[in-house]
Amino acid sequence: MKRIQTFSAMVLVVTLFLIFFYSSLHLETTHSHRAEREDLLKHPNLQVHDPDMKTQSSKQDNFTTPHPDVHSVSVSDGFRQSIPQNGAYWNRLLYSALRNLDIGVNPLRHDSDLSPCREINQELLQTNVHDITSYPVLFHNFLQGMNCKSAPVLINQPNKCIFSEGEGDNQTFLLFAIKSTPGNFEQRQAVRETWGREGVYQSRSRVRTVFLLGTSSLDDPDLGPLLSFEANHFGDLLQWDFRESFLNLTLKMNMFLQWKLKNCPHVSFVFSGDDDVFVNTPALLSYLQSLEPSKVSQLYVGHIINTASPLRDPKSKYYIPLSFYDGPYPAYAGGGGFLISGALLQPLYSVSHVIPFFPIDDVYTGMCCNALGVSPEAHTGFQTFDVKEEDRENLCVHKDLILIHQRSPRQMKRLWKGIHNPLLTC
Ligand SMILES: *[C@@H]1O[C@H](CO)[C@@H](O)[C@H](O)[C@H]1NC(C)=O
Ligand SMILES: *[C@@H]1O[C@H](CO)[C@@H](O)[C@H](O)[C@H]1NC(C)=O
Repeated sequence: MKRIQTFSAMVLVVTLFLIFFYSSLHLETTHSHRAEREDLLKHPNLQVHDPDMKTQSSKQDNFTTPHPDVHSVSVSDGFRQSIPQNGAYWNRLLYSALRNLDIGVNPLRHDSDLSPCREINQELLQTNVHDITSYPVLFHNFLQGMNCKSAPVLINQPNKCIFSEGEGDNQTFLLFAIKSTPGNFEQRQAVRETWGREGVYQSRSRVRTVFLLGTSSLDDPDLGPLLSFEANHFGDLLQWDFRESFLNLTLKMNMFLQWKLKNCPHVSFVFSGDDDVFVNTPALLSYLQSLEPSKVSQLYVGHIINTASPLRDPKSKYYIPLSFYDGPYPAYAGGGGFLISGALLQPLYSVSHVIPFFPIDDVYTGMCCNALGVSPEAHTGFQTFDVKEEDRENLCVHKDLILIHQRSPRQMKRLWKGIHNPLLTC
């Protein structure tokens, strides 16, 4: 009996020892794993593979961030003069970034862009924005994430712009970068069957198309398998792991720039626009081909909004609180659809490391172009506020234009067929 007791006691001691030993071992590995990660974070140029980070898809590839050329960034005087220096949060962030730029501090040193992103903490926000509690929830979310200038890739198209048999060189004349959302299957299909069809037009201009997606809310049905199928079938989806939201469109644009600089470096022009606009692709290409050589690398054209100011109605989609931004908007091209030279995208990406993210994407692009000293150019062929009511079915009006906002998938197909009808005389 005594022997059994001694034996059980020994087993207990050994078990306890083993439990203690293993748990300390585990603690040590997680600890060194953390330390290693923190170490990596201090060297943002190293790529961090974070196994704890949730990825929704195994498609995650070895995506590396292209390097912003921050040493060559300079911000125009025109831009500095157009943005007042005052107490609003964004204005303060901008002037703090400009002061750093002017004394030669590398903006990337404090930038979360090249490392996994951290949300700005509540206390810091409350200290800096006195009335933040009155901000709408989505705006609050934007503020928390506004230093997150990068998101993991879920669906990629690394070979989008690579030469394949019989296609000629790798040069893409026009890349359609279309802002879509996961559920907009029908819109995307209508675009593919009409103005966004990929191919070689007028026997010399190669056109390629990508749709830009974030993720839908967890409360929505899981569209993952459908999107995977669509991506494999058409090869034109790009998806990143951030929540679809109007206020996240600046992040979407930035992710597209990263992707483009890495995967489609040789693009003459990029069209950025929505999936519910109608584009007259032949007219668009003729316009681009007729450009003077001096304009080819400096193009930023569309429907220009010249003298806009922030909307202060909290119910508006475009609401900007006064304590967040105080000042007019620089002239910008309406985000429904505009054209920009491929050559401008690297400088644009670089300057976006200095200019803080702004929640309205087209205003932000306008700010960055203004900072680069590039002025938007107005073109009457871009109608982002639609044409007169009585002209909405008029094929000749559409044949003359380049872009019209907004058309349903069915209208898109009808108009496309219509403007290509040989019987049409305008
Ligand atoms: C296109 O790019 C691929 C990959 O970068 C390269 O291997 C190929 O030679 C290029 N083709 C042409 C025609 O330049
Ligand atoms: C933008 O996406 C991030 C990452 O998913 C999310 O945390 C944030 O709430 C989103 N912002 C808005 C305004 O919805």
